[in-house]
Amino acid sequence: MKFFVDTAEIDAIAELHALGMVDGVTTNPSLIKKSGRDILEVTREICDLVSGPVSAEVTATDADDMIAEGRKLAEIAENIAVKVPLTWDGLKACKVLTDEGKMVNVTLCFSANQALLAAKAGATFISPFIGRLDDIALDGMELIEDIRTVYDNYGFETEILAASIRSVNHVLDCARIGADVMTAPPGVIKSLVNHPLTDKGLDAFLADIKAADIKIL
Ligand code: E4P
Repeated sequence: MKFFVDTAEIDAIAELHALGMVDGVTTNPSLIKKSGRDILEVTREICDLVSGPVSAEVTATDADDMIAEGRKLAEIAENIAVKVPLTWDGLKACKVLTDEGKMVNVTLCFSANQALLAAKAGATFISPFIGRLDDIALDGMELIEDIRTVYDNYGFETEILAASIRSVNHVLDCARIGADVMTAPPGVIKSLVNHPLTDKGLDAFLADIKAADIKIL
């Protein structure tokens, strides 16, 4: 499973990128707002750092303007994935932009039928939002399972980019189901390393290192 990092914070991306943990980046208008940066400027910086797909979201809601914005975003770098919402206009823009050879990430997906439409419109990525479904007492992971089944039934090549991931369990469940990509905030990715038995075991080893005065260098 590929790891995308869901942030527009350059330092956080750079830290994970140095460890080989960043296969791509996703941003959205809320993350751009949080960064306090100009969208074109910060997106360019991210693309300079990361060679995998970098999702940058359009601001328009009608197809023609989404297409114009998508073309402008795609000029930033070859690894831009234009992010469009899962509306009828978004699907129209998806079809035009992917026909031009651009990567498109169709976002705000909350049903397998929506994901089916996105695949038929040629989407490179579909972004089902797990956490936001869980927030309203629905089962976000069931959506990932359903999309996996539907796409595999018909051999769609659109990649399932599991989004709105809030916990380490979300990450593991996505990997079990076979999501192609998961995008998570840096904090969630970093917390995957945590295990109390690792901490406990290391404490015991450190005590023995001290007691036996074990030295390597
Ligand atoms: C990524 O593409 C999404 O915009 C993001 O994962 C949404 O996450 P949230 O529901 O926690 O805001």
